[in-house]
Amino acid sequence: MTDLLQLSLVVNGEPVDAHVQPRLNLADFLREHMKLTGTHIGCEHGVCGACTVRVNGDIVRACLMLAVQTQNASVETIEGLSDSGEIADLQLAFRDRNVLQCGFCTPGMLMAAQDLLRQSPAPDREQIREHLSGNYCRCTGYHAIVDAIEATARARGERRP
Ligand code: FES
Ligand code: FES
Repeated sequence: MTDLLQLSLVVNGEPVDAHVQPRLNLADFLREHMKLTGTHIGCEHGVCGACTVRVNGDIVRACLMLAVQTQNASVETIEGLSDSGEIADLQLAFRDRNVLQCGFCTPGMLMAAQDLLRQSPAPDREQIREHLSGNYCRCTGYHAIVDAIEATARARGERRP
């Protein structure tokens, strides 16, 4: 059996120390060690976006990153963004437009959408589609997702002083 490696990081603002297999990916670490099952696993090879999380402020595919690569990093999951209220308006917009169908893609979609809105507060529909092009949804046809993000961007713009 491979020796376990010591891992120290911050997950959703809380310091975490763990011992992990070197080959353990970040998605499995979050789901199995941290019980943060909002990070979903679809394709396991970087295509579907279901496993999207933030590492040091940037979104990444948690299935393509080893847990040990997050040594001393700050990792944020959908639970963290949800609990802090950072994406409360986006979540409401998804609910209002019936974007939550099976819900499998939703955590990754929300992570990617919030990433776009942080970088580009007033994106057009083409930019929204481009930014979500790495996140697959088998239920919605994407139109309602784009509507929800566009509406959230508009509402945030109206709230800005
Ligand atoms: S599970 Fe990571 S991109 Fe699909
Ligand atoms: S809501 Fe089912 S995959 Fe997107």
